[in-house]
Amino acid sequence: MNHYQIQDLESYFKAYRASVDHPEVFWESIAKENFLWKKPWNNVLSWDFEKPEIRWFDGAELNITENCIDRHLSTKSEQTAILFEPNNPAEPAQHITYAQLSEEVNKMANVLKSQGVNKGDRVCIYLPMIPELAYTVLACARIGAIHSVVFAGFSASALSSRINDCDAKIVVTADGSFRGAKTIDLKAIVDKALKESPQVETVLVAERIHNGTPLKEGRDHYLKPLTDEASSHCEAESMQAEDPLFILYTSGSTGKPKGMVHSCGGYMVYTAYTFKNIFQYQQGDVYWCTADIGWITGHSYILYGPLANGATTLMFEGVPSYPDFGRFWQIVEKHKVNQFYTAPTAIRALAKESTDHVNASDLSSLKVLGSVGEPINEEAWHWYNEQVGKKKSPIVDTWWQTETGGILISPIPYVTPTTPTYATLPFLGVQPALMDADSNEISGNSVEGSLCIKFPWPSIARTIWGDHKRYKETYFTAFPGCYFTGDGASRNEVGYYRITGRVDDVIIVSGHNLGTAPIEDAINEHDEVAESAIVGVPHSIKGNALFGYVILKNQEDNTDLDFLQKDINRLITEKIGPIAKLDIVVFVPGLPKTRSGKIMRRILRKIATKDVSNLGDTSTLLNPEIVAQIRTIVGV
Ligand code: PRX
Repeated sequence: MNHYQIQDLESYFKAYRASVDHPEVFWESIAKENFLWKKPWNNVLSWDFEKPEIRWFDGAELNITENCIDRHLSTKSEQTAILFEPNNPAEPAQHITYAQLSEEVNKMANVLKSQGVNKGDRVCIYLPMIPELAYTVLACARIGAIHSVVFAGFSASALSSRINDCDAKIVVTADGSFRGAKTIDLKAIVDKALKESPQVETVLVAERIHNGTPLKEGRDHYLKPLTDEASSHCEAESMQAEDPLFILYTSGSTGKPKGMVHSCGGYMVYTAYTFKNIFQYQQGDVYWCTADIGWITGHSYILYGPLANGATTLMFEGVPSYPDFGRFWQIVEKHKVNQFYTAPTAIRALAKESTDHVNASDLSSLKVLGSVGEPINEEAWHWYNEQVGKKKSPIVDTWWQTETGGILISPIPYVTPTTPTYATLPFLGVQPALMDADSNEISGNSVEGSLCIKFPWPSIARTIWGDHKRYKETYFTAFPGCYFTGDGASRNEVGYYRITGRVDDVIIVSGHNLGTAPIEDAINEHDEVAESAIVGVPHSIKGNALFGYVILKNQEDNTDLDFLQKDINRLITEKIGPIAKLDIVVFVPGLPKTRSGKIMRRILRKIATKDVSNLGDTSTLLNPEIVAQIRTIVGV
């Protein structure tokens, strides 16, 4: 990145201008200078947002694991690549060097091969935050298999629908996981999921909790005996830049999760380059992102981005509250963490506790603080800045999405002056636009609209697995010629962007992206439920909480509503996972609908947030009388 050194705001603007005036020249120089390619590209970029089709570095061949591992071995074989901090602070941390990472990934790659996994096959990974998760992800990349990591907090039903969607024949899991004081029997969840996914032929089981989980003859195998036997050399498969690297599912506004497909070449270039600049990672630093690898943040900024830079990346198995609310800060002190990247929901939860927890640890190693996943409110921003950063570590409020692969809008630390709640300026090469309701771009500053991106960046998801039509409809139809993010945003007087939240039926709860439709589908499966609608309401820690309106098939005076609420949450936990549980449930006789039958969520949202001053004209509804009835039930 010699051409584009960003030392101050002026050099940022200069580099930004160059990056958008001549994107191909810009990205070609980044790709050439920083990575190992087996074969160069014929063409830097071809794109068409109408089709849509986007190709970066076409014709090039590479293997991302050679960039993340092999090329560091000559200079950094004894440097820690992954610093594993277990759930239990009494258990020693593991310093996994680049040499050890290479050995483990190669062995795992050979195990996958021996189980019949070939290039292009999908491998479902349902593992807790233990080193085997990193090894398996990278092993897939080594042999060109497409990994689909499913967050290990998802239920059996959510797991099996993700396995089936991409037709995975193999699942890599663990006997169980430790999360705080709890132990979770993961393998039992897999066994249940596989009743609905009979095509799965092989299950590999890492032992973490040693619970002696039963193995199904012929299908299930413990991992360790296989890796012990495997060779630690596995040739890295030559991948086309546009070959899929992985699938990662994200919620949409309709029922089925969307399997976002990311490419090998563009994804590598973009995650590595953003990591280096946005965290200002210097050799020797210890970087820690607290996300789970089950989410995009973990893929891009625990594994691929940091490892492509030869960084030391910390991987934490546990939770911020165990054994006490000082755990994050104890880890920062213990490992002298320099860059710390977390979510606003965690910040808010920790800010609620005594500052003694923060002050008990030496946080002087910190140089950069990151935030991701949802808008960070002003109070949380200040707490983070003052209590954690002691006002000397810039906060990078990074805006991006599963679909974008990497960070698109963020300050550059020590360069971009920060403003609380603003993600500030686009990263190099990123061209945001705010759109009005008629799909016209809104120019100038001090404006607000729907956030779109006008030009492709290297790590944009290329399709939805098995459903290119849905990809087009979801992202490229509302604002023709642009990628639509689903978020609303404002641009202030100096051109800084502030993300105001989703403008579609996706609700972000504790940083998790939840579609209303799958939750409603789960509730509607309850025997006693006729229909339901979910809206988000502000919550002091989770950002949003879920508020459910439920119509029962029969509601008698003696119906046990408390029991039903619990039973609905039990069903949601079973179908999706505990993250999607409702905080508030009201039982109503009907839902406000338009004449075409569409639920008027805007009205339901206003009632749920007790903001009924401007409900708009409800007289054109199919059932206008229902609004007053619901208001009475909610008490507004
Ligand atoms: O609404 C935005 C919010 O999270 C959504 C993307 O969620 P997901 O695909 O799960 O990826 C999360 C991690 C990258 C976005 O559409 N979001 C993410 N970061 C921010 C944010 N909202 C405001 N500020 C952010 N920094």
